[in-house]
Amino acid sequence: MTAKNELRDAAIAAMMRAYAPYSDFFVGAALLTKSGRIYTGCNIENSSYSATCCAERTALFAAVASGEREFEAIAIAGGHHGKLEGVCNPCGVCRQALTEFCEPAFPVLLVTAEGYEEHTLGELFPGFFTNLNGKTGQ
Ligand code: THU
Repeated sequence: MTAKNELRDAAIAAMMRAYAPYSDFFVGAALLTKSGRIYTGCNIENSSYSATCCAERTALFAAVASGEREFEAIAIAGGHHGKLEGVCNPCGVCRQALTEFCEPAFPVLLVTAEGYEEHTLGELFPGFFTNLNGKTGQ
């Protein structure tokens, strides 16, 4: 599907913008909104390591800060110095962050050198925390 291949390409381009002087592990994420826009993010490291932000949350927060709350899919690409070897799985914090705005059926594309593996958020992160209990966020 073209949209998914475009999302893959956007994740790879974002990965090359990673600021990762400490780990040399480059990650890029591309988040497609229901309105058809793509927001990208890369990991941004910090000398105080815990201040680092992952690519997925950089993309999600950029999108939400721009007024977007409805998402279609995300693609994630990562590897040492930007070399794609296997897949880059999203960390638990990023999985939890995505659950705030995305349903369990939300597609998560894990980029490989050849294409991508398609998963769902629910499959990757069952039993996520929520205290909304059926209410929607403001
Ligand atoms: N990283 C991400 O950007 N996303 C993830 O889901 C996992 C890890 C980044 C954080 C850090 O800059 C580097 O990868 C190595 O952990």
